[in-house]
Amino acid sequence: MAKKVLVTGGAGYIGSHTCVSLLEAGYEAVVVDDLRNSDKEALNRVEELTGKKVDFYQFDVCDEAKLDKVFSEHKINSIIHFAGLKAVGESVEKPLEYYDNNINSTLALCRMMLKHKVKNLIFSSSATVYDQKNEVPLSEEGTLGCSNPYGWTKLMCEQILRDLTHAHKELSVVLLRYFNPIGAHESGIIGEDPTGIPNNLLPYITQTALGRREQLTVHGNDYDTPDGTGVRDYIHVVDLANGHVKALQYADSRTGSDAINLGTGKGYSVLDIVKAFEEVNGVKVPYVIGPRRAGDLATVYAAPQKAKEVLGWEAEKGIEDMCRDAWRWQKKNPQGYRNS
Ligand code: NAD
Ligand code: UFG
Repeated sequence: MAKKVLVTGGAGYIGSHTCVSLLEAGYEAVVVDDLRNSDKEALNRVEELTGKKVDFYQFDVCDEAKLDKVFSEHKINSIIHFAGLKAVGESVEKPLEYYDNNINSTLALCRMMLKHKVKNLIFSSSATVYDQKNEVPLSEEGTLGCSNPYGWTKLMCEQILRDLTHAHKELSVVLLRYFNPIGAHESGIIGEDPTGIPNNLLPYITQTALGRREQLTVHGNDYDTPDGTGVRDYIHVVDLANGHVKALQYADSRTGSDAINLGTGKGYSVLDIVKAFEEVNGVKVPYVIGPRRAGDLATVYAAPQKAKEVLGWEAEKGIEDMCRDAWRWQKKNPQGYRNS
């Protein structure tokens, strides 16, 4: 019988792509998402793409009574916990909302694991849990520490999950530390659909190329990097999604907790990305240089070797694929899922 995975936040950007990877790999997906930052249409399209059904429940993952019902109705083998708030700047303005949602949703799932004897959980962590003093490339052994409430919620959830696996030796948790996911499924049918003005680079670029935004502001060109603009480890969201399938297999084969980077190990500057996007898509991205954005680092990229060693996973797609696929999604869906 196919294994069932509970995917919290499965209607979101990374969650919807991961549902595709799971269904293609022969898993069944049960999604819980209250759609606070997503659209049910994403899951309709996951079904369209894969020809398979997703069981969908719309409610807040912190609602334990409703969660309990889902775990009673389905024999869940593993959980992938994407649901959470993720905007760094907003977390500084509204710290309590971030601590409340990100930590309570994780605690609720921990209790469900014990009650319903679910052994495996994959947690969406972030490169932001690494202390800023670490040198690049960032390896899993780096010291941990954060500079904003969002990051602290991720680090605290990591600690909660580590403590849980210490106390309950039968459990298995994989903490996946994502670098910068960008791009979209190559069909252009699902992709990133931020509400309001995008904070992140790629959606800002695609909306600018489309004419929805006048110009991109490059946040600083006086960093100690080859061209002065910030350098990041951009990873194609489909590669990232496939990493979750590998993490499920890994979790199944062991117990305890393990933190693993999902990145490419390569750094690209803001201007590298603008240039690649323009070249590969034959469009212009007008930009101006602005001041640095508060809290930004000069250079962030992963040491990706552990994922290769323990998961047998490595990123396959390059920045050309990422830029091409992001643009295909945006062109086909100029207003995101609100088109339909
Ligand atoms: P997203 O906002 O597109 O997806 C998150 C989903 O969770 C949304 O569909 C939202 O409606 C849902 N959600 C949030 N709180 C919920 C709750 N309490 N109950 C039910 N549903 C809830 O974000 P994403 O980019 O897909 O990120 C997924 C996860 O990966 C998040 O935990 C995020 O912190 C983490 N992450 C993302 C990035 C990134 O750059 N996108 C980087 C590192 C880590
Ligand atoms: N940038 C611009 N202009 C923009 C947006 C971004 O120049 O309009 C630059 C940033 O200064 C940075 C780079 O593009 O140099 C990438 O910025 P993003 O906002 O896309 O991504 P970040 O690296 O700042 O943040 C991401 C995730 C966070 C996570 C963090 C660390 O969005 O959730 O990585 O892992 F915490």
